[in-house]
Formats: sequence, structure tokens, C-alpha cells
Amino acid sequence: MADISVMDAERLCGWLPRRARETHKGDFGRILLLCGAVGYTGAPALAAMGAARSGAGLIFVGVPEPVYPIVAGKLLEPMVFPLLAQGGMLAESAVPEILARLSGCDACLIGCGLGRSAGTFAAVQAVLANASCPVVVDADGINVLEGHIDVLRGAACPVVLTPHDGEYRRLMGRLPGEDRMGAAAALAEKTGATVLLKGHRTAICGADERWENRCGNPGLATGGSGDVLAGILVSLLGQGLPPVHAAAAAAWLHGTAADRCAARMGEYGLLPSDVAAELPYLLP
Ligand code: APR
Ligand code: MG
Repeated sequence: MADISVMDAERLCGWLPRRARETHKGDFGRILLLCGAVGYTGAPALAAMGAARSGAGLIFVGVPEPVYPIVAGKLLEPMVFPLLAQGGMLAESAVPEILARLSGCDACLIGCGLGRSAGTFAAVQAVLANASCPVVVDADGINVLEGHIDVLRGAACPVVLTPHDGEYRRLMGRLPGEDRMGAAAALAEKTGATVLLKGHRTAICGADERWENRCGNPGLATGGSGDVLAGILVSLLGQGLPPVHAAAAAAWLHGTAADRCAARMGEYGLLPSDVAAELPYLLP
């Protein structure tokens, strides 16, 4: 297996697509975010801002209909649309519209704050079976796959999984333990996905590259940080970075933005939205 690499600013600049003078928004990815539920109205907004602040060209955000006015009211640049809902979460009947929106997208994120329901499971299953673009599966998108890990193996598209330890356990039946890179590799091996195992040191494992993220700080240990990371990741996938590079770059951008914020404001009051707002200063 490959050595473990560590990300830096120079590599990131080499991987980002160049922005020619005559370029237009269609050149930087059309991405679809499927996030949010009653009780989780911040997750879609934080993921969308992570994506917008890291260069995504066009961002579509599908949310369960009851929270549509709330999420749409938080976001100016992304295009928010309502999806059929049941019990405050996605309904199974939302699947046809999700698939229609998915076609023509360059990357998709599913899961942040979606809640665990039959509709969430149906949506994850349908997206993985039909996408022709890379798909990030995070949070409840992972949780609903407990006992259904085979859905990942059968995916039609490149998949990036972004579990924290609890989400990892739901897929693998055990915690990652001390050897985090080995744990990420085991999940990658079992599913065929690229794995970004979150934590103080984030381990990233693809088919033939491994990366460790060493930046970031305890100011990130607050609800919503993971949503911003997922948004950065789907944005970079939409801009054409290969999954393992998009994952390594997203973890580095997220951690480095948090370190810059903490140097000014400390770790205690640092918000995930501050991390998203800091991203432009790290990018060309
Ligand atoms: N040092 C560096 N980075 C850290 C640290 C730390 N001590 N603690 C957390 N982070 C980073 C992680 O690496 C990850 O990128 O912050 C992010 C946290 O992401 P999540 O664990 O996904 O947290 P988040 O989704 O924001 O909030 C908790 O997870 O358990 C679910 O449903 C629950 O919505 C809740 C969510
Ligand atoms: Mg999370």
C-alpha cells in the first residue's frame, strides 16, 4: 500500500482548475446537495456555504418541503428547491424529482441533516444506483446504510464516504480504534468508496493513495463543522478533482481555515460559518 502523504497549499493550487479570463460559471461544476429536515435547517445552509466559498459554479439545494422557506431564506447564491416530504423528512415519493435534478450535475452530496427515514434510505439508494457523477455520502446518508453496506458496493458512481467514528461504527459494526488509517482502508476495501474518516487527525484512503490531515483544532468540535467540510468536498469534486484528491484538499482547507480563524478569535467561540467565510483567503 502507498505511503501516507500530507497535504499543503502548493499541491492544492496545482490541483485546482485554472480560471481563464473568458471562463463562465458552467466551467466550475454544477452540484446538487440533498440535505436538511425539520429540526436540521442549518445543515443544508452550512454545506451550501462550504461549497460556495470553495469555488462551486452552480449550487442546487434540495430540502424537504416543510423547511424550504427557512433554508431558502438563509441562502442568497445557491438555488434552493422543495422536495416531497413525510414527517418532516424526505418522502420516498421525492425520488423521481431527485433523479431528474441529478442528471446533468457534476457532483452530489447527500445526507447532512436529512434524518433517518425510509425516504432518506430510498433517496440514497436511488442516487447511488443512478448517478453518473461522484457522490459524497455523509451523516444520515451513512446512518441509513446500517445493515445495507452492499448498497455502496453496487454504486454506479464514484463514492466518497465521510464518517465520524459513530457513523463508521454503523457501517462496520465496530469503532475505528487506534489505527485510523487502517480503519479507513478497511472501509474503503469493503465498499469500493474513497473514505475520509473524520477526527482530530483525519485519515483519507482511496484505492491507491492515502493522506493524513494534520491541521484543524478543537474549535471544530461543534455541530455543523462536518456540514461545511462536506460542502467543500462536493465543490471540489464538481470542479473535477479526483475523489481522493478532493477529500485530501477539502480536509486541508477546512482545517487550515479553522486554524486561521482560531488564531484571531480563539477556539471557544469559533463557528462553522466562520470557517466557511475564511475559505476564500486560502484559495487563489
Ligand atoms: N481537531 C481537529 N478537527 C476536529 C476536531 C479536533 N479536535 N474535532 C472535530 N474536528 C473536525 C472533524 O475532523 C470533522 O471535519 O470537525 C468536523 C466534525 O464533523 P462531524 O463529526 O461530522 O460533526 P457535525 O456533523 O458537524 O456535527 C455532529 O454528527 O453525530 C452526528 O447527527 C449528529 O448532526 C450531528 C453531527
Ligand atoms: Mg457530521
